[in-house]
Amino acid sequence: MSKLIIDRREFLRYLGISTVSILGHQLLSACAPLFSGQPTNEPFGEPDVEVQLFAKTDLQQIFPGNPTKVWRYQGEVIKGSSDALRFLPDSYLGPIFQVNKGMHVRVHFTNDLPETTIIHWHGLHVPESADGHPRLAIENGETYVYDFKVMDRAGTYWYHPHPHGRTGPQVYQGLAGLFLIHDDEETSLSLPSNEKDLPLVIQDRYFDSDNQLVYDPSVMGMFGNRILVNGIPDFKFEVDRAAYRLRLMNGSNARIYKLAWDDGSPLHVIGTEGGLLEQPLIRDYITLAPAQRVELWVDFGLWDSGDIINLISLTEAGDAVDFPIFSAVINNSDRLVTSLPDQLTIHDPLNASQAVNANNPRVFEMQMGMGMRWMFNGRVFEMMDVARNEKVRLDDIEIWEFYNPGRSGMGMPGMIQPHPIHIHGLQFKILERQVDSSSVISYSNLKDGFVDEGWHDTVLVVPGERVRLLMQFKDFNGLYLYHCHNLEHEDMGMMRNYQVLSA
Ligand code: C2O
Ligand code: CU
Ligand code: CU
Repeated sequence: MSKLIIDRREFLRYLGISTVSILGHQLLSACAPLFSGQPTNEPFGEPDVEVQLFAKTDLQQIFPGNPTKVWRYQGEVIKGSSDALRFLPDSYLGPIFQVNKGMHVRVHFTNDLPETTIIHWHGLHVPESADGHPRLAIENGETYVYDFKVMDRAGTYWYHPHPHGRTGPQVYQGLAGLFLIHDDEETSLSLPSNEKDLPLVIQDRYFDSDNQLVYDPSVMGMFGNRILVNGIPDFKFEVDRAAYRLRLMNGSNARIYKLAWDDGSPLHVIGTEGGLLEQPLIRDYITLAPAQRVELWVDFGLWDSGDIINLISLTEAGDAVDFPIFSAVINNSDRLVTSLPDQLTIHDPLNASQAVNANNPRVFEMQMGMGMRWMFNGRVFEMMDVARNEKVRLDDIEIWEFYNPGRSGMGMPGMIQPHPIHIHGLQFKILERQVDSSSVISYSNLKDGFVDEGWHDTVLVVPGERVRLLMQFKDFNGLYLYHCHNLEHEDMGMMRNYQVLSA
């Protein structure tokens, strides 16, 4: 299997983007002003699960030879079932949280890094005090206590750092972990579980000849030369001839994947970022942007013992190459036949006609501005600033339109890129996509792999596209974020606050 994956230029070509390469990059260096108005973070009641987490520097044996310097989350359960954390062997990734809906979770997070940090629980509907906004970042030696109730549906969520201007490098060095939620509805479906329920975190990283991570992003983001799955290169695992649940997460900083089986078998999708779909769907490939998750149901009994089936990332024919993600080796167990239910769940209804701005959606236009800073509606991230179009009312249902013009202002015509847009604190529905003629190439290269059904917290918006989302602001007031989840774009300013205000 080839070790080297596509380089940046090939990647741009595959997206239908000009190869004008812009090597300079600029991270935000301005320090946030101090402010008043920290959300109160009073622990409430007795938690069902209590965890101590640390972020620390460490060494990890990833390749033969020198170990790699990494940053990692380390944790232990201090109250509740010891199953609440699961540890991935030989991985720099953080422990996997395994909790049930309704549980009260308390996490004591201690920063043992040489710089400030804070944890964000990606996809979870939590109070602002638990959302990990960069204004809450803590210094080395300090501890932040998160206290929240698990309100979300069963599914694959995750956690990662969110400090001002440093999210990209911190995640890149290894700080990330999964947060899995289970609920009764999911249990009643008897989906493949335990050793047949596999979390697979896909990341690309650039390693030098000494096995060390190199972080040298361009305005396009940071792209690697190796693929890791659960922190391991050339990832391979053995499977029975039976059905499995694969939870795929794109934990990369910037890379978008087109995931497919190398023998062309169709993919059966059962879940997205916000949990199970109502009905399973079939795709020939799946477009998975940074921060997105997709759950597959795979019957490995369809292959023969001894077969090896590879998940690959497809690129377009011509000048680029497909590259492997992981390999599943079919063992010689007896075939176990199970079927996938055709109705998985029923989603709470949310109708566009209920939106308070149904006739006049908020529009967030993505742009590249002076000094190579990515922006929304002409503004980069400002720690405490909330523009007029970023204030919403508690309980309102709204439509938000994200517009990627496929061109950019201020003399940067080459800088067009797809943007994976993420909104904190909620899961949304994707209402519609409208594409103009300015960049049909990247759209047609990716569109058949979109899974727009179901609940999402991250959506890919390609150049020339307007994507309309439907969401409701429930339960919590406060300051939340929306941003591009290309982490370099986020750090370069492509993030803004939105504020939920009481009616
Ligand atoms: Cu995973 Cu603010 O993001
Ligand atoms: Cu998030
Ligand atoms: Cu972006």
